[in-house]
Amino acid sequence: MTVISRDSLGAGFRLGVATSSYQIEGAVDEDGRAPSIWDRFSHTPTKTKLGHHGDVACDHYHRLEEDLSLLEWLGVDAYRFSIAWPRVIPTGRGAINQRGLDFYERLVDGLLARGIAPCATLYHWDLPEALEGGWLNRDSVDAFAEYAVAVARRLGDRVDMWFTHNEPWCQAFLGYGTGLFAPGHKDFGEALQCAHHLLVSHGVATRALRAEVKKPIGIALNMIPAYPLTKSEADLAAARRYDGYFNRWFIEPLLGRGYPEDMVELYAAHMPAFPASDLELIAAPIDLMGVNYYERAVIADGDELPLKLRHVRSEEFPRTADREIFAPGLGAVLSRLHGEYGFQRLVVTENGAAFADVPGADGVVPDHDRVEFFRAHLAEIAAQRGAGVPVEAFFAWSLLDNFEWSEGYTLRYGLVHVDFENQRRTPKQSAHFLRSLAGVRPPRP
Ligand code: FCB
Repeated sequence: MTVISRDSLGAGFRLGVATSSYQIEGAVDEDGRAPSIWDRFSHTPTKTKLGHHGDVACDHYHRLEEDLSLLEWLGVDAYRFSIAWPRVIPTGRGAINQRGLDFYERLVDGLLARGIAPCATLYHWDLPEALEGGWLNRDSVDAFAEYAVAVARRLGDRVDMWFTHNEPWCQAFLGYGTGLFAPGHKDFGEALQCAHHLLVSHGVATRALRAEVKKPIGIALNMIPAYPLTKSEADLAAARRYDGYFNRWFIEPLLGRGYPEDMVELYAAHMPAFPASDLELIAAPIDLMGVNYYERAVIADGDELPLKLRHVRSEEFPRTADREIFAPGLGAVLSRLHGEYGFQRLVVTENGAAFADVPGADGVVPDHDRVEFFRAHLAEIAAQRGAGVPVEAFFAWSLLDNFEWSEGYTLRYGLVHVDFENQRRTPKQSAHFLRSLAGVRPPRP
């Protein structure tokens, strides 16, 4: 068993939990909210497991007080949530719906009253359906910046950390490339176009936010370290391509290095056209680099186009319900972001595991595997901090079992079990673990 304590994480380190709007809120047509691309997608036959959708989800919109009490009970320092653009500007662009913002104001004020730092993500994939052409349309860039400003004007004096996008890789490559996520397109060129607009919108929104808020601004990237299946030249090169596709494609332009040349060459047939000035827009300075870490990838040379590689299902280490458990990958990613790329402020914006959790008759949810998962990943963070890597905070995914996108409610990532028949919340053993780790928080400022 890995031993981990507040002390081993060091002074000033913040512990939190994360969620996202469409995955927990429900109340999809209340107080002026209009549909997002996920409403349409999840209501399209065959797109999600068992036809699940987020109409009710965890009913968080109506259970805000109960969920705030849960957060207070957990004793976390910070809470990362996302704001639903279709609540704030239901038509995507234009009139601001103050009733949508009222909800997030209640959330933010409720957190502050409990001494919990509110950390907001502006986009976690619920794009207003009304935005014609979605992320393929260049207009979405300005629309996103306008929306960011609308949120900042209302909450900018109280939110503690800002994240523009969550996992642009997923939105671009699963939303427009493989069709697994909304809006369900299957075209590699479209995925690159979407990724480009997401990156530009991040930069433009970051600049716009700067004028409104004083707190740190960043982006949350999902990072997957690539390990070659063998030491052969071919597998090493394939792992490098995967890294280019998944990690470097986003990190390097954010740092002002442009898109990685080896990948641009590989993508020649699919590259979107754009003015060179876009690269400057993308590279707006950020304060925080958020990392969502779940797993590594084992990669071999292969035929999958355009990357010519094969993703190997590794059985080397134990697995969660959907992935291999590999904590050292988190350490590797953090160390690289600081060492190779020079990021000075890192936040683990998500890390978590799905297991088939069942509450016992005694009301206990014995998710010891998840506890061990968190211990191992927190130990990696402690080791990196010890080595001088500036990791400031850790957000466990997720506060609640919730709508896990195309997997519907079949994958449970929560620290708190949700019975979707009656919305009963039961803290799992992992919630008790985080609570004991969080311990006594420093006095409120
Ligand atoms: C991440 C997403 C989050 C959740 C977890 C399990 O990729 O950001 O919404 O789906 O995976």
